[in-house]
Amino acid sequence: MRTRDAIYDDLLRYQAELSFDFEQAFYRSSDVWRSARRVLDFGAGNCYYTRKLAEKNPEKTFVCVERDAALARRGCGWANPYKIEVVTGHSRTVADDAAFDFVVARHAMSYLADRAAFMQWVVHHTTSTAGLLTIDADDSKFFVRPALPLLEAGNEDFKKDVRASGVIVTFARCCRRVEAIRVLSSTHRSADCP
Ligand SMILES: C[S@@+](CC[C@H](N)C(=O)[O-])C[C@H]1O[C@@H](n2cnc3c(N)ncnc32)[C@H](O)[C@@H]1O
Repeated sequence: MRTRDAIYDDLLRYQAELSFDFEQAFYRSSDVWRSARRVLDFGAGNCYYTRKLAEKNPEKTFVCVERDAALARRGCGWANPYKIEVVTGHSRTVADDAAFDFVVARHAMSYLADRAAFMQWVVHHTTSTAGLLTIDADDSKFFVRPALPLLEAGNEDFKKDVRASGVIVTFARCCRRVEAIRVLSSTHRSADCP
């Protein structure tokens, strides 16, 4: 019988394969991404997506942070032979003086009860010209035809868990929040760096 993390490993790989090429349009259009050398992939899961990024961008090094130890172990397998370091834990587990010049949070922000705290962490662990790419689902637009009851029930359970953990903002509201924090962060930086 396959273990839970073996199934999740497969799902994450399919998911990455489905949308990786589509997402390249963003990366290609970003000067900040092009010049980035040290990238944090927050909530990296099995690091398969990171591996695909590393394959395409050999000039960059990646740090994957993943709180689920079993997935992080799988990540170590996918990381080889690329410049990918896997850290098991939360953002706080990353060395305090780490300075990233790009942060990817793909399908990970939706897990966070306190996104503002995460954004403040990002501000303090990135360079002054760093970028953040967050990719997340807008569940209010989610539909499946023909019906896939198991998938839909799983999605409903996920939404219940998310609500129970205190995350009630919609994706769109989250974006506005991020904008507000970006303004705060530039204020913070100009105070720190005269
Ligand atoms: C849906 S998966 C996405 C994985 C990967 N980013 C991708 O796009 O394939 C979200 C991952 O974020 C991890 N995660 C959620 N909150 C986290 C936190 N506070 N610190 C580290 N990892 C976290 C979960 O364990 C899960 O593996």
